[in-house]
Amino acid sequence: MHIDPGSLNTRQMYQWMIHTILPRPIAWISTCDPAGRTNLAPFSFFMGVCAKPPTLLFCPVNDRHGHPKDTLRNVEATREFVVNLVPLALCEAMNATSESLPHGESEFDRFNVTPSPSIHIRPPRVAGCPVAFECRLDRIIRVSEGPAGGNIVLGTIVGLHVEDSILGADGFPDAERMNLVARAGGDLYLNGGEFLRMVRP
Ligand SMILES: Cc1cc2nc3c(=O)[nH]c(=O)nc-3n(C[C@H](O)[C@H](O)[C@H](O)COP(=O)(O)O)c2cc1C
Repeated sequence: MHIDPGSLNTRQMYQWMIHTILPRPIAWISTCDPAGRTNLAPFSFFMGVCAKPPTLLFCPVNDRHGHPKDTLRNVEATREFVVNLVPLALCEAMNATSESLPHGESEFDRFNVTPSPSIHIRPPRVAGCPVAFECRLDRIIRVSEGPAGGNIVLGTIVGLHVEDSILGADGFPDAERMNLVARAGGDLYLNGGEFLRMVRP
């Protein structure tokens, strides 16, 4: 079959995208508002960009009223965020924090997620996550306006936290020890699976 995006509504197109672009790593993002109140939410439209300067991106869409989500509001206001990577042990907590709470109410407190202080920035990282990137905002690209409108947040990595216990013999994180969860379509997630080794030409 061939699909013409113009024949689909936004919801249908979103469904096709999340059922095809996978597995997606999950950025579990902690931020603070200007008063220092914490916020935590998952985003799977997330990827690395480049290492010079070390840069990553994630994409919070506007809510159904066309308003920015709390994460985007906080990043715009404070220019700081932490990307935490989600291990299997914390996947249910991660999912719980996708609930939309009133602005200012902390998902850390509501869902008993343990914060751990960051080194360079104010938002805490999530204790128990094997990897966390402390980031400062580089820029925000507005792709579209209104409900479901897209935003690309580019962040410069200013600190990288790695649990010593996940390091492999080569000194880098071992994927099996990280035991991360990735997002697929609908309610499906991926954990584990087979690794292939291929040497680049
Ligand atoms: C695994 C997972 C991945 C998600 N990925 C995204 C995403 O990439 N972009 C987005 O706007 N919302 C995404 N969401 C929904 C947000 O987490 C949700 O809207 C959340 O309430 C936003 O919180 P905030 O208002 O505190 O920023 C995802 C939810 C889950 C469970």
